[in-house]
Amino acid sequence: MLRDYQSLSEQAAALVGDRIRRNPATVLGLATGSTPLGLYRELVKMVRRGVIDFGEVVTFNLDEYYPIAKENPQSYYYYMQRHFWEPAAIPPERAHIPDGNPDDVRASCRDYELKIYRAGGIDLQILGIGVNGHIGFNEPGEELMAKTHLVSLSGETIAANSRFFEKAADVPRMAITMGLGTIMKAREILLLAAGPDKGTAIRETVKGGLSTRVPASLLQAHPRVTVMVDREAARYLR
Ligand code: PGA
Repeated sequence: MLRDYQSLSEQAAALVGDRIRRNPATVLGLATGSTPLGLYRELVKMVRRGVIDFGEVVTFNLDEYYPIAKENPQSYYYYMQRHFWEPAAIPPERAHIPDGNPDDVRASCRDYELKIYRAGGIDLQILGIGVNGHIGFNEPGEELMAKTHLVSLSGETIAANSRFFEKAADVPRMAITMGLGTIMKAREILLLAAGPDKGTAIRETVKGGLSTRVPASLLQAHPRVTVMVDREAARYLR
């Protein structure tokens, strides 16, 4: 548990930086949303100080809204360009994210899985967590999908995402996300959570049983997961 959001971001950046120094060709799985912004800011500082270099790193983002164009400032593609890929000098051909506007969704999802496989699989996957316990956009339900797929977002997720949009009608209802299997195959996972809204999801993830009703709880079955939380997100762990 970390004191606050800033120390969480610094600790997370220290872990990612360490893995990249050990293996400059690390395959990194990346997340969007408000939680990893501090991590990205700290990593960009490290790049500017010459402490790490992303020139050989390959990245795969967890998810993207659907349908959405890359040029749309609300797309995760746009978010990544602005907050990380460009300032961290990640070569564009090495930065991947699901296509939010494909002609053929199934083919595009299959192709994304294949790209991850051909890159050698994900070494370190960064995750945020939804207030409902989702990871990527794998929403709570009876079943979870293993591979990259198209998903209808839950009411809770649509409500949580609405803070980024001016009009309720503009909030995307669907997304393309890596599946639980894609995530679980990562060799190492770093889950980040900050703020009081994440308290319940973190308690159920760490202390509850494994349940598709709390997708993040399945991470308990993964051999190498670090959960970094600030004091507020840890409030029900004591
Ligand atoms: P947030 O989103 O970082 O914006 O809270 C996390 C998530 O929904 O996975």
